[in-house]
Amino acid sequence: MQTILITGGAGFIGSHLTRLFVTKYPQYKIVNLDALTYAGNLSNLKDIEDAPNYTFVKGDITDMALVQQLFAEHQFTGVLHCAAESHVDRSITDPLAFVRTNVMGTSTLLLAAKESWKGDFTNKLFYHISTDEVYGSLGETGFFYENTAYDPRSPYSASKASSDHFVRAFYHTYGLPIKISNCSNNYGPYHFPEKLIPLSINNIINNKPLPIYGKGENIRDWLFVEDHAGAIDLIYHKGIIGETYNIGGHNEWTNIDLIKELCRQMDAKLGKPAGTSEKLITYVTDRAGHDMRYAIDATKLKEELGWMPSLQFEEGLSKTIDWYLNNPEWLNNVVSGNYAAYYEDQYHKR
Ligand code: NAD
Ligand code: DAU
Repeated sequence: MQTILITGGAGFIGSHLTRLFVTKYPQYKIVNLDALTYAGNLSNLKDIEDAPNYTFVKGDITDMALVQQLFAEHQFTGVLHCAAESHVDRSITDPLAFVRTNVMGTSTLLLAAKESWKGDFTNKLFYHISTDEVYGSLGETGFFYENTAYDPRSPYSASKASSDHFVRAFYHTYGLPIKISNCSNNYGPYHFPEKLIPLSINNIINNKPLPIYGKGENIRDWLFVEDHAGAIDLIYHKGIIGETYNIGGHNEWTNIDLIKELCRQMDAKLGKPAGTSEKLITYVTDRAGHDMRYAIDATKLKEELGWMPSLQFEEGLSKTIDWYLNNPEWLNNVVSGNYAAYYEDQYHKR
């Protein structure tokens, strides 16, 4: 029997992870703590909201009194820490929001876990979900390994690197049982349309320009979100305490090639002549400090725990596009209100 606190379960990756744990482990009790920022959306979890083993709590991970109260009430045996400010562009305009949630919030959770578990760490686990961006930016060759030195270059990645350091510090200093995974770029259903793939899908649907930063030559390594959730499940149950695992798709694309593939698939699905959506591609001012290339070496996860991504990218992208085309009300709800103001501010000046 386990009682697990999932933080940020109403976000993109968190909702897939929450769904997986609630449905795959009906014997576990899952408590989802989420502040419902602009990125959190309870409609991501509509299908499981009434599950008997699932509870939602609206609250902030920096609120120590609340976090302590939840630990006292539910006696958590595990934490799956997903909550974060996650968008690089927003971190450039408001870095302190990232320090607050990613650094202070993570430290608050670590301290509450340590106090609640009072040195009895048997069958306890604090699992921290992190990113490949902590390793910095690659040139044309090479990969990120688990022992690659940290070299974060955006306020977002600096805050995630800092949170990783705090997690490891609690392991070394207090013996808190931790695991960390650092994953590459995710894509799939429920992805908030400020990120490249869902933003471009939304813009193609609405016949709006597709903003490509700089020359579009930056490279990302894309992984279907359900494969990320599956890897976390495996590491949570089978990984070694104190260890770090890289998760990635071995699937590198330049941004421009990716968007061209997206345009090709969307033209076919929307019944438009080939080449129609590509005409929307618009080169805009580059992101400040734009990391050139990310590429994960996930050999450790493959060799030690037998994990492999289940989907080829073209297939995953097709599933993703279909989901957005079949869920216009989700997309319309998300892009109304706050999002419109963000989009105006972010892209008006480029
Ligand atoms: P997201 O922005 O979609 O979701 C973040 C969630 O956290 C939202 O539900 C939000 O309401 C919640 N949240 C934010 N601040 C909070 C606070 N102070 N208290 C409580 N809840 C709060 O993010 P995502 O893309 O799903 O990323 C989830 C995690 O995975 C993050 O830690 C991120 O760094 C990491 N990650 C993301 C990717 C990716 O490609 N998206 C890749 C690797 C790692
Ligand atoms: O690598 C993992 C990271 O991937 C996660 O830790 C982050 O939370 C997640 O947001 C993502 O970060 P990126 O900055 O790589 O993702 P984003 O979708 O913002 O951008 C992907 C690439 O596309 C990047 O090179 C910037 C570029 N881009 C992005 C947007 C939003 C554009 O060219 N145009 C755009 O409008």
